[in-house]
Amino acid sequence: MADPIIAPKPQLARRAHIASLEQYQQIYAASVRDPRGFWRECAARVDWFHPFERTFRQDFANAEVSWFLGGKLNAAHNCVDRWLHDRAEQTALIWVGDEPGTYRHISFHELHENVGRLANVLRAHGVQKGDRVCIYLPMIPEAAYAMLACARIGAVHSVVFAGFSAESLRDRIVDADCRVVLTANEGLRGGKVIPLKATVDAALEGTAVTTVLVKRRTDTAVPMRAGRDLDYDEQVQRQRAYCPIEWMDSEDPLFVLYTSGSTGRPKGQLHTTGGYLVYASYTHEIVFDWHRGDVHFCAADVGWITGHSYIVYGPLCNGATTVMFESTPVYPDARRYWQVVDDVQASIFYTAPTALRALVRFGDEPVRTSSRASLRVLGSVGEPINPEIWRWYHDVVGEGRCAVVDTWWQTETGGILISPLPGATPCKPGSATFPLPGVRPVLVDEHGRELTGNDVTGNLCLVGSWPGQARTILNDHERFRQTYFTTYPGRYFTGDGCRRDADGYYWITGRVDDVLNVSGHRLGTAEVESALVAHDYCAEAAVVGCPHDVKGTGIYCFVIRGKAAEGHDDAEVEDVLRQQVRDAIGAIATPDRIQLVSGLPKTRSGKIMRRILRKVAESRYDELGDISTLAEPAVVEEIVAGHKTWAK
Ligand code: WT7
Repeated sequence: MADPIIAPKPQLARRAHIASLEQYQQIYAASVRDPRGFWRECAARVDWFHPFERTFRQDFANAEVSWFLGGKLNAAHNCVDRWLHDRAEQTALIWVGDEPGTYRHISFHELHENVGRLANVLRAHGVQKGDRVCIYLPMIPEAAYAMLACARIGAVHSVVFAGFSAESLRDRIVDADCRVVLTANEGLRGGKVIPLKATVDAALEGTAVTTVLVKRRTDTAVPMRAGRDLDYDEQVQRQRAYCPIEWMDSEDPLFVLYTSGSTGRPKGQLHTTGGYLVYASYTHEIVFDWHRGDVHFCAADVGWITGHSYIVYGPLCNGATTVMFESTPVYPDARRYWQVVDDVQASIFYTAPTALRALVRFGDEPVRTSSRASLRVLGSVGEPINPEIWRWYHDVVGEGRCAVVDTWWQTETGGILISPLPGATPCKPGSATFPLPGVRPVLVDEHGRELTGNDVTGNLCLVGSWPGQARTILNDHERFRQTYFTTYPGRYFTGDGCRRDADGYYWITGRVDDVLNVSGHRLGTAEVESALVAHDYCAEAAVVGCPHDVKGTGIYCFVIRGKAAEGHDDAEVEDVLRQQVRDAIGAIATPDRIQLVSGLPKTRSGKIMRRILRKVAESRYDELGDISTLAEPAVVEEIVAGHKTWAK
């Protein structure tokens, strides 16, 4: 049966930047015919202190790309100062606090002052161009000030999601060699207190950090270490509001952001200034069809790339009003998002399918209590959106009048690559539809042969660079090259599987490597496994994904007890190990199931047969394939039996 097609709404097409499928196709064709011309023109959307001389250079064999060579600019200038002449009093940032009804409007003028003061504080504490600064803050305006203050002086920010554990935070601080950390005494989310400063204290043991700036978010006094810890407010009050701008080369780093891969520790993805900013701002404008005056509400956290590109850099670089939401979709109840949409009169709303799946459970009533009349575009990001959820988003939240844009991209891509455009693209629920202008996806089979034509399924790669592409992994360019450019030489490999249907629509089918997408967050199975085996209750572990109604993918751990766990009952061992993973990585990595087993399915050469474990975790017992070659085929029976008792 053919997939149903939802046509773009005429009332959206009338005002859209890209206003029909034909127009999209023309722009797209021109962009791939002449990428240099296309991107050169596109780059004019940002303010250049010095124009660039060459549009781009690409050498995928060596994993090297550079954009807008020879140009000079500053991201904070583009996101703040540039708007002072005509919209200084316009709201740049609407902060939505955790407690319902808490709002703060920060104008571009105020943003400029706050960023300038903080930039001067950083300079006063020795931060120089190129130095890395760690930001471990909750969703408060200071998180945006901190990113922009770093950008202003040419420092490279490394935002660490405030849900990560002390150990994860320390790894990231050490890897990036940060000397300065910005944090808060405590965070507040869904009425719960998050002890951020205590986590920072634990993380800093044995690191080179010299300075910690502590913003007071709550009234709780926290211990401050003399000579290292400083009160944020006291520090900014001492500085003047104006801070001179450091003009950066296009290819000077703007930030690093850590993300999980299939092996090893999280990788610090490095994004640079010119290409990233052009790409974030261009995609923000066309994908959400943003127009001056529109309030953009992206409900992500700045700890992820979505927050970087579509709360801070993209919207502010376009002079937009952007929303920063401190709370959760269900605090104090399931009406919260829609209440905020009405209160701030948001035109654009952007969230992850996991949040929508959590909300659907409460039915339509909590949505219907709001007006949502201001909304025009509803975005989805981070994981495949189930067609039923897509329909609910479209029919109930958007009342059939709003465009739904299912945006596919990655931390490494800097911005959206595949997505419908609100005024142009006929949608099929569950498909991210077509590539944006200048983006060239290809599907390849396992031998690296390109699958041309339609109605094909393969691994998703990109040929040709785009400005937002990550440039390297901090301190490990070889790993960058290996991970993305060697599987299919000459192409960037995304790690995702994908189908291009008979009509040329792209359907992302999910990761084809050992990366889990848990509630739209990326986790390497290897990371969870090393957290488990670090505890002496665990002798050996294998972690795979399992279907989960809300999270999309849950974390399923097969564990062989360690000696130290002898004499403890199963429930206790499971609890201890669950806590162990939370402590090692953070709450987002909490295992959904720990199954204690006496052995793992291994080949005779000792390799764990993860394929079998994945099938078991998906309850696909009939698809285990040939298990006769295993060292101990009997363990499979035990594992299946153990899974059945849990899954029923
Ligand atoms: C992975 C990247 C992009 C910002 C948030 C996640 C999955 C992302 C979609 C989508 C299906 C998606 C992919 C991708 N993903 N968007 N619209 N449909 N899958 O960034 O943490 O770097 O994760 O998220 O598997 O590779 P990330």
